[in-house]
Amino acid sequence: MKISITSTPLQDWSGDVLIVGLFEEQLEKQLTQLDKHLSEPIQRVLEVENFKAKSGEISSFHLTQNGLRKIILLGLGPVIKVKLNELRKAVATGVRASLGNSGTLGIVLPWNQLSASNLELAVAEAARLSLFKDIRFRSEPEPRKSPTKIELIGPPCVSTSTLKAIDPICSGVELARELVGAPPNELTPEALANTAALIAKEKGLSLKVLEKEDCKDLGMGAYLAVSQGSDLPPKFIHLTYKPAKKAHKKIVLIGKGLTFDSGGYNLKVGAAQIDMMKFDMGGSAAVLGAASAIGEIRPKGVEVHFIVASCENMVNGSAVHPGDIVKASNGKTIEINNTDAEGRLTLADALVYASKLKPDAIVDLATLTGACVIALGEEVAGLWTGNDELAKDLINAGELAGEGLWRMPLHHSYKDGLKSLLADIKNTGPRQGGSITAALFLQEFVEESINWAHIDIAGTVWADKDRGLDPAGATGYGVRTLLYWICKEDFLEQEK
Ligand code: BES
Ligand code: MN
Ligand code: ZN
Repeated sequence: MKISITSTPLQDWSGDVLIVGLFEEQLEKQLTQLDKHLSEPIQRVLEVENFKAKSGEISSFHLTQNGLRKIILLGLGPVIKVKLNELRKAVATGVRASLGNSGTLGIVLPWNQLSASNLELAVAEAARLSLFKDIRFRSEPEPRKSPTKIELIGPPCVSTSTLKAIDPICSGVELARELVGAPPNELTPEALANTAALIAKEKGLSLKVLEKEDCKDLGMGAYLAVSQGSDLPPKFIHLTYKPAKKAHKKIVLIGKGLTFDSGGYNLKVGAAQIDMMKFDMGGSAAVLGAASAIGEIRPKGVEVHFIVASCENMVNGSAVHPGDIVKASNGKTIEINNTDAEGRLTLADALVYASKLKPDAIVDLATLTGACVIALGEEVAGLWTGNDELAKDLINAGELAGEGLWRMPLHHSYKDGLKSLLADIKNTGPRQGGSITAALFLQEFVEESINWAHIDIAGTVWADKDRGLDPAGATGYGVRTLLYWICKEDFLEQEK
């Protein structure tokens, strides 16, 4: 679906459905103005309906004339109070209320009074992403009439680089949602590697896939231990984006890529939701979604590496025993006291590999711990880093992107919980503070001089219920935060 921005004034605009955002205090004035543009006055209808434009209020009605068939009014609440995230939600609700109609959907907001930077980008993303529906696995998808085209009507000048970024950003999020939503019998490590190959080919990135033997040669004993109980071969994916002119910065993004996490011999039982563990590759989905967008946006001056140590965590006669001791590629020995803490084992070798690239920053995204879900819930991911500037930049990007992110402590004394009697470290500590010890475990595999951040997306990867902006299911969390962080100079307006 195409989204564009038009400077055509409302009275000359033609389309099938129109969404109008209205402020409480200015309702009368705005409606009088709107009535001038419409063939059927709506002010009176609304008086009957007692529409007050309170935040979240929505009212819609059909028009009988040719052309415009439906009007949807969105309450934006008081003028001063509108936050970008509320606006995103309001727009998403409005756009979904247009379902049942095809053709062109117009969105008009009191643009001049909404003075937030990057407003149009936020609105465009909310509009398109709220319409996402995954019908790939239905034999007969229910027919759904949705807009074929969305136009933002009359916002003040938007830069062409911002305009050009909308499509790649949204496609990146949609790709991530599709990858996470795909079932584990379809989305295998090999399928993930094939997706990377397609991105490489279509977007002009280079790709290296390390096979099991290559990983063995590199001494990736932690990663390979996780995959050894699966019938499917592991795939270590490394995509690279290089800008046309010399890069002054090198970034590595790592995504946890467990295409299924059964828990291994510490099998997931009871409330552990084993059936949802196809989403355990959500980090890799975010990273590949970002790769696809970056290949199109082609940010200047920055080289970006995308790394996924992909495999399955399964059970068979060759699977890891709880208690096994393995060696990671930096030489550290790990006692696997719990086979269900497998993500950190795969990330350990990915972090060692990433460190060897000598980047300016490494950011990993992982559905790493249930403890993080307990701490922060479904709408906020956890961020761990020892670097205040990196923390600030990522949190800022998350805020602009409308993705919740909260800094958590790398509380060093908790590392005692990872002491092993026999090996250098064990892979799990006590239940309390479980997301923190997981982060501390990862830190052991990052070269000390490198700026590193870890984002635990165990809660945010999936929406159990429809949240307005995010339809229920895979959220594609992380793609936008990464893009807003890496490409901020390429498509974001600087603060007004
Ligand atoms: N993939 C899970 C984490 C997870 C749990 C994500 C629930 C989303 C929802 C991870 O591999 C895992 O199993 N972690 C264990 C760690 C524990 C054994 C220390 C957990 O959180 O229970
Ligand atoms: Mn696990
Ligand atoms: Zn896992």
